[in-house]
Amino acid sequence: MIGLEDVFAEEAKQILGSVGQLELGKGRVFFTAPLEAMYELNIRARTLHKLFLLLHRGLFEGLRDIYVATRQLDFTSVIKPDQSFAVRAERVGQHDFTSMDVAAEVGQAVIDSYMASTGVRLKVNLSEPDVELYAFVRDNEFLLGINTTGPSLHKRGYRVFKHPAALRTSVAAAMLLLAGWRGDGLLLDPMCGGGTIPIEGALMARRIPPAAFRRGQPALLSLPIADEEEFRERLERALGERIDDIFNIVGMDKFRAYLEGARRNARSAGVEDTIRFVQGDATDLASYLRDSPTHVVTNPPYGIRLRLRGLFRLYRGFLSSLASLAPGCRLVL
Ligand SMILES: C[S@@+](CC[C@H](N)C(=O)[O-])C[C@H]1O[C@@H](n2cnc3c(N)ncnc32)[C@H](O)[C@@H]1O
Repeated sequence: MIGLEDVFAEEAKQILGSVGQLELGKGRVFFTAPLEAMYELNIRARTLHKLFLLLHRGLFEGLRDIYVATRQLDFTSVIKPDQSFAVRAERVGQHDFTSMDVAAEVGQAVIDSYMASTGVRLKVNLSEPDVELYAFVRDNEFLLGINTTGPSLHKRGYRVFKHPAALRTSVAAAMLLLAGWRGDGLLLDPMCGGGTIPIEGALMARRIPPAAFRRGQPALLSLPIADEEEFRERLERALGERIDDIFNIVGMDKFRAYLEGARRNARSAGVEDTIRFVQGDATDLASYLRDSPTHVVTNPPYGIRLRLRGLFRLYRGFLSSLASLAPGCRLVL
Protein backbone atom coordinates (compact mmCIF):
# COMPACT_ATOMS: atom_id res chain seq x y z
CA MET A 1 0.00 0.00 0.00
CA ILE A 2 1.39 3.39 -0.93
CA GLY A 3 2.45 5.23 2.25
CA LEU A 4 2.27 2.17 4.47
CA GLU A 5 5.25 0.22 3.10
CA ASP A 6 7.21 0.60 6.36
CA VAL A 7 4.29 -0.79 8.36
CA PHE A 8 4.23 -3.93 6.23
CA ALA A 9 8.04 -4.20 6.46
CA GLU A 10 7.76 -4.17 10.27
CA GLU A 11 4.94 -6.69 10.20
CA ALA A 12 6.91 -8.99 7.90
CA LYS A 13 9.88 -8.83 10.30
CA GLN A 14 7.60 -9.62 13.21
CA ILE A 15 6.09 -12.63 11.45
CA LEU A 16 9.32 -13.99 9.98
CA GLY A 17 11.80 -12.97 12.66
CA SER A 18 13.92 -11.15 10.09
CA VAL A 19 14.11 -10.40 6.38
CA GLY A 20 17.12 -9.74 4.17
CA GLN A 21 17.92 -6.90 1.76
CA LEU A 22 14.89 -4.87 2.75
CA GLU A 23 14.00 -2.08 0.36
CA LEU A 24 10.90 0.10 0.41
CA GLY A 25 9.49 1.02 -3.00
CA LYS A 26 6.33 2.91 -3.89
CA GLY A 27 3.49 0.64 -2.81
CA ARG A 28 5.99 -2.23 -2.78
CA VAL A 29 8.39 -3.79 -0.33
CA PHE A 30 11.31 -5.88 -1.56
CA PHE A 31 13.13 -8.37 0.64
CA THR A 32 14.73 -11.78 0.63
CA ALA A 33 13.51 -14.61 2.85
CA PRO A 34 13.40 -18.41 2.84
CA LEU A 35 10.53 -20.10 1.02
CA GLU A 36 8.57 -20.54 4.29
CA ALA A 37 7.95 -16.79 4.14
CA MET A 38 5.62 -17.40 1.21
CA TYR A 39 3.38 -19.58 3.42
CA GLU A 40 3.65 -17.55 6.60
CA LEU A 41 2.95 -14.14 5.06
CA ASN A 42 0.05 -15.44 2.98
CA ILE A 43 -1.46 -16.87 6.17
CA ARG A 44 -0.68 -14.20 8.77
CA ALA A 45 0.07 -10.81 7.22
CA ARG A 46 -2.66 -8.25 7.88
CA THR A 47 -1.20 -5.33 5.94
CA LEU A 48 -0.19 -7.28 2.84
CA HIS A 49 -2.18 -7.21 -0.39
CA LYS A 50 -0.23 -9.58 -2.62
CA LEU A 51 3.04 -11.41 -2.24
CA PHE A 52 5.08 -11.96 -5.41
CA LEU A 53 8.11 -14.12 -5.96
CA LEU A 54 10.45 -11.81 -7.82
CA LEU A 55 11.90 -13.49 -10.90
CA HIS A 56 13.61 -10.50 -12.45
CA ARG A 57 14.38 -6.89 -11.70
CA GLY A 58 16.51 -4.79 -14.00
CA LEU A 59 16.82 -1.78 -16.27
CA PHE A 60 15.74 -1.78 -19.91
CA GLU A 61 15.68 0.53 -22.91
CA GLY A 62 13.02 -0.95 -25.16
CA LEU A 63 10.44 -3.73 -25.40
CA ARG A 64 13.06 -5.99 -26.94
CA ASP A 65 15.08 -5.86 -23.67
CA ILE A 66 11.97 -6.94 -21.76
CA TYR A 67 11.58 -9.90 -24.10
CA VAL A 68 15.25 -10.86 -23.76
CA ALA A 69 15.27 -10.56 -19.95
CA THR A 70 12.16 -12.75 -19.69
CA ARG A 71 13.31 -15.26 -22.30
CA GLN A 72 16.46 -15.90 -20.23
CA LEU A 73 14.47 -16.99 -17.18
CA ASP A 74 13.66 -20.60 -16.35
CA PHE A 75 9.92 -21.04 -15.79
CA THR A 76 9.93 -24.80 -15.29
CA SER A 77 10.06 -24.45 -11.48
CA VAL A 78 7.08 -22.10 -11.40
CA ILE A 79 4.74 -23.39 -14.13
CA LYS A 80 3.89 -27.06 -14.69
CA PRO A 81 3.70 -28.21 -18.34
CA ASP A 82 -0.07 -28.76 -18.17
CA GLN A 83 -0.77 -25.43 -16.46
CA SER A 84 -2.02 -22.25 -18.08
CA PHE A 85 -0.64 -18.82 -17.33
CA ALA A 86 -1.46 -15.15 -17.82
CA VAL A 87 0.63 -12.01 -17.65
CA ARG A 88 -0.84 -8.97 -15.91
CA ALA A 89 1.11 -5.85 -16.77
CA GLU A 90 1.24 -2.40 -15.25
CA ARG A 91 3.18 0.56 -16.58
CA VAL A 92 4.13 3.87 -15.00
CA GLY A 93 6.08 6.58 -16.87
CA GLN A 94 6.51 7.78 -20.46
CA HIS A 95 6.92 4.97 -22.98
CA ASP A 96 6.15 4.41 -26.64
CA PHE A 97 4.34 1.17 -25.79
CA THR A 98 1.33 0.21 -23.68
CA SER A 99 0.98 -2.19 -20.76
CA MET A 100 -0.78 -4.56 -23.20
CA ASP A 101 2.40 -4.56 -25.30
CA VAL A 102 4.42 -5.45 -22.19
CA ALA A 103 2.04 -8.31 -21.38
CA ALA A 104 2.23 -9.63 -24.95
CA GLU A 105 6.03 -9.40 -25.06
CA VAL A 106 6.47 -11.12 -21.69
CA GLY A 107 3.88 -13.77 -22.57
CA GLN A 108 5.69 -14.64 -25.80
CA ALA A 109 9.05 -14.79 -24.02
CA VAL A 110 7.62 -17.16 -21.39
CA ILE A 111 6.23 -19.45 -24.11
CA ASP A 112 9.53 -19.40 -26.01
CA SER A 113 11.62 -20.04 -22.90
CA TYR A 114 9.41 -22.95 -21.80
CA MET A 115 9.34 -24.44 -25.28
CA ALA A 116 13.14 -24.28 -25.50
CA SER A 117 13.69 -26.07 -22.18
CA THR A 118 10.83 -28.64 -22.27
CA GLY A 119 9.44 -28.82 -25.80
CA VAL A 120 6.01 -27.91 -24.35
CA ARG A 121 4.00 -24.94 -25.55
CA LEU A 122 2.34 -23.40 -22.50
CA LYS A 123 -1.32 -22.44 -22.68
CA VAL A 124 -2.43 -18.87 -22.03
CA ASN A 125 -5.65 -18.35 -20.09
CA LEU A 126 -6.40 -14.72 -19.39
CA SER A 127 -9.55 -15.22 -17.34
CA GLU A 128 -8.63 -18.10 -15.00
CA PRO A 129 -4.94 -18.87 -15.27
CA ASP A 130 -3.29 -21.47 -13.04
CA VAL A 131 -0.29 -19.18 -12.67
CA GLU A 132 -0.38 -15.40 -12.81
CA LEU A 133 2.75 -13.47 -13.75
CA TYR A 134 2.95 -9.81 -12.92
CA ALA A 135 5.04 -7.53 -15.12
CA PHE A 136 5.68 -4.04 -13.86
CA VAL A 137 7.39 -1.28 -15.79
CA ARG A 138 8.28 1.97 -14.05
CA ASP A 139 10.29 4.40 -16.18
CA ASN A 140 13.30 2.30 -17.26
CA GLU A 141 12.90 -0.46 -14.69
CA PHE A 142 11.26 -3.80 -15.43
CA LEU A 143 10.10 -6.25 -12.77
CA LEU A 144 8.63 -9.68 -13.25
CA GLY A 145 7.06 -11.67 -10.44
CA ILE A 146 4.72 -14.54 -9.69
CA ASN A 147 1.57 -13.91 -7.71
CA THR A 148 1.60 -16.32 -4.75
CA THR A 149 -1.53 -14.83 -3.18
CA GLY A 150 -4.32 -14.74 -5.76
CA PRO A 151 -6.88 -11.98 -5.13
CA SER A 152 -5.73 -9.25 -2.75
CA LEU A 153 -5.62 -10.24 0.92
CA HIS A 154 -7.43 -7.07 1.97
CA LYS A 155 -10.62 -8.77 0.77
CA ARG A 156 -10.96 -10.70 3.99
CA GLY A 157 -14.31 -12.28 3.23
CA TYR A 158 -16.05 -11.47 6.52
CA ARG A 159 -17.61 -8.20 5.36
CA VAL A 160 -21.33 -8.84 4.93
CA PHE A 161 -22.32 -5.19 5.43
CA LYS A 162 -20.50 -2.60 3.34
CA HIS A 163 -20.44 0.89 4.81
CA PRO A 164 -20.52 3.57 2.05
CA ALA A 165 -17.09 4.83 3.19
CA ALA A 166 -15.64 1.51 4.32
CA LEU A 167 -11.94 1.43 5.07
CA ARG A 168 -9.72 -1.28 3.61
CA THR A 169 -9.12 -3.98 6.18
CA SER A 170 -5.38 -3.79 5.49
CA VAL A 171 -5.34 -0.03 6.17
CA ALA A 172 -7.27 -0.59 9.41
CA ALA A 173 -4.71 -3.22 10.44
CA ALA A 174 -1.83 -0.87 9.58
CA MET A 175 -3.38 1.91 11.70
CA LEU A 176 -3.76 -0.50 14.62
CA LEU A 177 -0.13 -1.59 14.31
CA LEU A 178 0.94 2.07 14.21
CA ALA A 179 -1.06 2.66 17.39
CA GLY A 180 0.80 -0.22 19.03
CA TRP A 181 -2.43 -2.16 19.67
CA ARG A 182 -1.66 -5.68 20.85
CA GLY A 183 -4.76 -6.38 22.91
CA ASP A 184 -3.76 -4.69 26.18
CA GLY A 185 -5.82 -1.72 27.34
CA LEU A 186 -8.99 -0.34 25.80
CA LEU A 187 -9.28 0.18 22.07
CA LEU A 188 -11.83 2.71 20.86
CA ASP A 189 -13.01 3.62 17.38
CA PRO A 190 -15.47 6.45 18.08
CA MET A 191 -16.61 6.71 14.41
CA CYS A 192 -16.54 3.04 13.50
CA GLY A 193 -19.05 2.89 10.62
CA GLY A 194 -19.14 -0.75 9.48
CA GLY A 195 -16.70 -1.70 12.23
CA THR A 196 -13.56 -2.44 10.21
CA ILE A 197 -11.15 -1.04 12.82
CA PRO A 198 -12.65 -2.70 15.92
CA ILE A 199 -13.03 -5.97 14.01
CA GLU A 200 -9.41 -5.94 12.82
CA GLY A 201 -8.41 -4.97 16.38
CA ALA A 202 -10.34 -7.92 17.77
CA LEU A 203 -8.81 -10.31 15.23
CA MET A 204 -5.33 -9.07 16.18
CA ALA A 205 -5.97 -9.36 19.91
CA ARG A 206 -7.40 -12.85 19.52
CA ARG A 207 -4.61 -13.91 17.12
CA ILE A 208 -7.07 -14.91 14.42
CA PRO A 209 -5.11 -14.79 11.16
CA PRO A 210 -6.58 -13.24 8.00
CA ALA A 211 -6.31 -16.65 6.30
CA ALA A 212 -9.22 -17.76 8.51
CA PHE A 213 -11.54 -15.88 6.14
CA ARG A 214 -9.92 -16.57 2.80
CA ARG A 215 -12.29 -17.81 0.11
CA GLY A 216 -10.68 -20.35 -2.19
CA GLN A 217 -7.10 -21.52 -2.43
CA PRO A 218 -4.10 -19.20 -2.30
CA ALA A 219 -2.36 -18.98 -5.69
CA LEU A 220 0.84 -20.44 -4.24
CA LEU A 221 -0.74 -23.91 -4.16
CA SER A 222 -0.62 -24.00 -7.96
CA LEU A 223 3.14 -23.50 -8.01
CA PRO A 224 5.39 -26.56 -8.46
CA ILE A 225 7.75 -25.22 -5.75
CA ALA A 226 4.97 -25.13 -3.14
CA ASP A 227 4.43 -27.96 -0.70
CA GLU A 228 0.70 -28.19 -0.03
CA GLU A 229 1.15 -30.28 3.11
CA GLU A 230 3.52 -27.74 4.60
CA PHE A 231 1.11 -24.92 3.79
CA ARG A 232 -1.80 -26.80 5.42
CA GLU A 233 0.29 -27.56 8.53
CA ARG A 234 1.31 -23.93 8.90
CA LEU A 235 -2.28 -22.81 8.35
CA GLU A 236 -3.55 -25.22 11.02
CA ARG A 237 -0.87 -23.99 13.44
CA ALA A 238 -1.83 -20.36 12.85
CA LEU A 239 -5.55 -21.11 13.25
CA GLY A 240 -4.77 -23.01 16.46
CA GLU A 241 -3.15 -19.94 18.02
CA ARG A 242 -6.47 -18.14 18.42
CA ILE A 243 -7.28 -17.11 21.98
CA ASP A 244 -10.71 -16.58 23.46
CA ASP A 245 -9.81 -14.18 26.30
CA ILE A 246 -11.83 -11.08 26.97
CA PHE A 247 -10.62 -7.83 25.42
CA ASN A 248 -11.74 -4.25 25.78
CA ILE A 249 -12.76 -2.99 22.38
CA VAL A 250 -15.43 -0.39 21.74
CA GLY A 251 -16.88 0.64 18.39
CA MET A 252 -19.03 3.78 18.42
CA ASP A 253 -21.03 5.53 15.73
CA LYS A 254 -23.72 8.17 15.60
CA PHE A 255 -25.97 6.05 13.42
CA ARG A 256 -27.76 2.92 14.55
CA ALA A 257 -27.95 1.47 11.03
CA TYR A 258 -24.14 1.52 10.73
CA LEU A 259 -23.74 -0.07 14.15
CA GLU A 260 -26.17 -2.79 13.13
CA GLY A 261 -24.03 -3.40 10.03
CA ALA A 262 -20.86 -3.35 12.13
CA ARG A 263 -22.37 -5.95 14.45
CA ARG A 264 -23.22 -8.16 11.47
CA ASN A 265 -19.64 -7.85 10.19
CA ALA A 266 -18.26 -8.69 13.64
CA ARG A 267 -20.56 -11.71 13.86
CA SER A 268 -19.40 -12.87 10.44
CA ALA A 269 -15.76 -12.49 11.59
CA GLY A 270 -16.52 -14.47 14.76
CA VAL A 271 -15.63 -11.58 17.10
CA GLU A 272 -19.04 -10.12 17.96
CA ASP A 273 -18.50 -11.06 21.61
CA THR A 274 -15.14 -9.23 21.67
CA ILE A 275 -16.48 -5.79 20.73
CA ARG A 276 -18.95 -3.55 22.55
CA PHE A 277 -20.86 -1.41 20.06
CA VAL A 278 -22.21 1.86 21.40
CA GLN A 279 -24.41 4.41 19.70
CA GLY A 280 -22.95 7.78 20.63
CA ASP A 281 -21.35 11.05 19.66
CA ALA A 282 -17.59 11.29 19.20
CA THR A 283 -17.66 14.94 20.29
CA ASP A 284 -19.05 13.99 23.71
CA LEU A 285 -17.21 10.77 24.57
CA ALA A 286 -17.51 11.06 28.35
CA SER A 287 -21.30 10.74 28.12
CA TYR A 288 -21.07 7.32 26.44
CA LEU A 289 -17.94 5.65 27.82
CA ARG A 290 -17.33 4.27 31.29
CA ASP A 291 -13.54 3.97 30.96
CA SER A 292 -10.79 5.94 29.26
CA PRO A 293 -9.41 4.36 26.10
CA THR A 294 -5.67 3.66 25.87
CA HIS A 295 -5.70 3.31 22.07
CA VAL A 296 -7.94 5.35 19.79
CA VAL A 297 -7.89 4.42 16.12
CA THR A 298 -10.45 5.97 13.84
CA ASN A 299 -11.29 6.89 10.28
CA PRO A 300 -13.47 9.98 10.62
CA PRO A 301 -15.64 11.37 7.83
CA TYR A 302 -13.62 13.37 5.34
CA GLY A 303 -14.17 16.43 3.15
CA ILE A 304 -15.93 14.94 0.17
CA ARG A 305 -18.82 13.73 2.25
CA LEU A 306 -19.14 16.56 4.72
CA ARG A 307 -19.03 20.34 4.38
CA LEU A 308 -15.71 21.76 5.56
CA ARG A 309 -17.17 23.77 8.43
CA GLY A 310 -19.01 20.73 9.81
CA LEU A 311 -15.81 18.76 9.49
CA PHE A 312 -13.80 21.29 11.53
CA ARG A 313 -16.49 21.29 14.19
CA LEU A 314 -16.49 17.48 14.34
CA TYR A 315 -12.69 17.16 14.46
CA ARG A 316 -12.31 19.91 17.07
CA GLY A 317 -15.16 18.53 19.17
CA PHE A 318 -13.80 14.99 18.98
CA LEU A 319 -10.21 15.97 19.82
CA SER A 320 -11.15 18.15 22.79
CA SER A 321 -13.55 15.48 24.08
CA LEU A 322 -10.77 12.89 23.77
CA ALA A 323 -8.17 15.17 25.36
CA SER A 324 -10.28 15.52 28.49
CA LEU A 325 -11.34 11.84 28.68
CA ALA A 326 -8.04 10.16 27.79
CA PRO A 327 -5.16 12.66 27.71
CA GLY A 328 -2.43 9.98 27.55
CA CYS A 329 -3.97 7.70 24.92
CA ARG A 330 -2.38 6.80 21.59
CA LEU A 331 -4.35 8.22 18.69
CA VAL A 332 -4.13 7.18 15.03
CA LEU A 333 -6.40 8.94 12.55
C1 LIG B 1 -15.47 7.23 7.15
S1 LIG B 1 -16.76 6.54 8.07
C2 LIG B 1 -16.02 5.20 8.93
C3 LIG B 1 -15.97 3.95 8.08
C4 LIG B 1 -15.42 2.76 8.82
N1 LIG B 1 -14.02 2.94 9.15
C5 LIG B 1 -15.63 1.48 8.02
O1 LIG B 1 -14.64 0.86 7.57
O2 LIG B 1 -16.78 1.09 7.79
C6 LIG B 1 -17.03 7.70 9.34
C7 LIG B 1 -18.16 7.37 10.30
O3 LIG B 1 -18.21 8.41 11.29
C8 LIG B 1 -19.54 8.50 11.74
N2 LIG B 1 -19.72 9.78 12.44
C9 LIG B 1 -19.79 11.02 11.91
N3 LIG B 1 -19.93 11.95 12.90
C10 LIG B 1 -19.94 11.27 14.07
C11 LIG B 1 -20.04 11.66 15.43
N4 LIG B 1 -20.16 12.93 15.80
N5 LIG B 1 -20.01 10.69 16.37
C12 LIG B 1 -19.89 9.38 16.02
N6 LIG B 1 -19.81 8.96 14.74
C13 LIG B 1 -19.82 9.89 13.78
C14 LIG B 1 -20.36 8.34 10.48
O4 LIG B 1 -21.67 7.91 10.79
C15 LIG B 1 -19.54 7.30 9.70
O5 LIG B 1 -20.08 6.02 9.89
